[in-house]
Amino acid sequence: MPMQPASTEIASRAAAIIDELKDLEGPLLPILHGIQHEFGHVPQAALPVIADGLNLSRAEVHGVVSFYHDFRAQPAGRHVLKLCQAEACQSMGSDAVAAKLKQLLGIDFHQTASDGSVTLEPIYCLGLCACSPSAMLDGEVIGRLDDEKIEEIVAGVRS
Ligand code: FES
Repeated sequence: MPMQPASTEIASRAAAIIDELKDLEGPLLPILHGIQHEFGHVPQAALPVIADGLNLSRAEVHGVVSFYHDFRAQPAGRHVLKLCQAEACQSMGSDAVAAKLKQLLGIDFHQTASDGSVTLEPIYCLGLCACSPSAMLDGEVIGRLDDEKIEEIVAGVRS
C-alpha cells in the first residue's frame, strides 16, 4: 500500500485546494475531485477541512463522498481496473467477466488486493459498447474481454 501523508499535511494541502475552488458554484464536487486527484483518494483527514471551508456538516460531506462511487476513501492499488457494468456490456456477459475477475483477484468491486496490486471498480459505459464487454486498465480501454484477455489482465497487474 502506498504511504499516506500525515493528517496535518493532508489538511494543509486540502485547504489550498478548497481555497482555490470554493468560490465556484456548487464547489463540493470539484473540491472532492481536486482532493482525489491530489492524494489518489479522499482521505478522512480532509473531510473536516472541507466541511469547515464550505460551512457544511461533516455528515453532509461524508454523505456525498460515499454516495459517489468515483470517490475512494482508501488509496488505490498500483493498478486500477474498471469494468463496464452498463447495459450493452451486460448483454454481452459483463457479469460473468466480473465474477471471473473477482474470483481470480480475490476481491470485490471497490476493493484493493491485499498485496496492493490492483483496485477493482465498476464503471458505467466507456463509450466502447461496440466492443463489449469492456474495461479500462490504468486509463487504457480494453474491448471484447474474453477468458484470454482476462488472464492477461490478471497476470499483468500482478507482475
Ligand atoms: S455499455 Fe460498456 S462500454 Fe458502453
